[in-house]
Amino acid sequence: MKKIIYRLLLGSVLFAQPLITSAQDYVPSPENLEARAWFDNAGFGMFIHWGVYSILGDGEWVMNNQNIPIDAYEKLPSFFNPIKFDADQWVQLAKKAGMKYITITSRHHDGFSMFDSKATDYDIIDATPYKKDVLKALAAACQKEGIKLFFYYSLLDWNRDDYFPRGRTGTGIPGRGEGQWEDYIAFMKAQLTELLTNYGPIGGIWFDGHWDQKQWDGKKFGKLQVDWHYDELYGLIHQLQPQALVGNNHHLGVIPGEDFQMFEKDLPGQNTTGWGTPEDQIGSVPLEVCETINGSWGFNLQDRRHKSTQELVHYLIKAAAYGSNLLLNVGPMPNGEIQPEHQKSLLEIGTWLEDYGPTIYGTSKGPFTPKDQYVSTRKGDVIYIHVLDPSVKIIHLEEVPVKIKSILHYDSRKKLSYKQSAKFGLQIDLSPLQMDQTDTIIEVRIASTN
Ligand code: GLC
Repeated sequence: MKKIIYRLLLGSVLFAQPLITSAQDYVPSPENLEARAWFDNAGFGMFIHWGVYSILGDGEWVMNNQNIPIDAYEKLPSFFNPIKFDADQWVQLAKKAGMKYITITSRHHDGFSMFDSKATDYDIIDATPYKKDVLKALAAACQKEGIKLFFYYSLLDWNRDDYFPRGRTGTGIPGRGEGQWEDYIAFMKAQLTELLTNYGPIGGIWFDGHWDQKQWDGKKFGKLQVDWHYDELYGLIHQLQPQALVGNNHHLGVIPGEDFQMFEKDLPGQNTTGWGTPEDQIGSVPLEVCETINGSWGFNLQDRRHKSTQELVHYLIKAAAYGSNLLLNVGPMPNGEIQPEHQKSLLEIGTWLEDYGPTIYGTSKGPFTPKDQYVSTRKGDVIYIHVLDPSVKIIHLEEVPVKIKSILHYDSRKKLSYKQSAKFGLQIDLSPLQMDQTDTIIEVRIASTN
């Protein structure tokens, strides 16, 4: 009798065991934890927004912004022939810039797949004269150079009938049909399976577009009107490649099953954009901030708002000081080349990192409250103070509760004088220094805190 009960119990346990572990009870695998640690130390990555929209030179939202009818937009792939695309060159550029990984749009909101997908004909193989899988070429080039490759994947789709109910965006695009949401979920699963089986080991999947399905009253977001089936999507990814990191640009706290958290155009906890994730929603997973070099993600011919190299380096430093990587975007042109002005900026950042990389890579956020004039990063018992304003003569910081062994100027190794008191905190005198216009780094060595 006992045996039978045992068998029955065992049977029901086995039977109840879902094929894919639900995201609610998600426990990251050892490979995943290792990948998270790698990501946490990576510091700097390249975001690539590339699609058939680049032909129109007006950013990746052009279909929505110009209300281009589906049948008109569907002509674009027939003009997409990026004969200057060279995956090795892109990867070399990323490496020279000091970037450790690349995240590329596999399918953006326009619904066009930049890879060979059996789940649709609306892809680079079936619909363009180019007929080559650019993700495949990039995956091979990345593999060769030890750069990790992540795929951006849009949840939102302005092209497909089965992206229905539709979201808040793309409402003026003529020709959108009405289909079944379950079909859309099945389509995404089929594509994610392709992305996780045909391109070797993948760094992770970067989801975007969640917010499209949230109610909006013109001021505030309301309820979500669909079920994204994240437990199934995330479970599928973790099952196919346990080390692949899942992130979702939903601007919310971490949802179970996610392995990193991203912040769009804002440092973690800040809200200059209006959609910044609140500080109390920052999770205990690796963080990433994404930003554009100019004002656009996809190629924009008229965008002249190129940030200076100094601004970009400052943002990289600030991201590190907030414990975050920086994913800096390029929007390649329709011929497959990255804009020359952006190449130049990236190479200049790379030159800066050659000298100062140790104060960025592998660091965690510093112990001092970040200020506009100076921020800090930390590696073990060394704190790096990055002075971003060259006019600063004395820095005022919170008291360091452990013994300070030395305070040096990073470049010249010159010792700096300092005072510390419970009342006034730590003050470091920079007056003898020749200040660097971009960043003067001060190295504070403290007694071991282990
Ligand atoms: C926003 C935009 C999208 C872009 C993304 C990058 O979500 O909708 O076009 O890809 O930001 O962070």
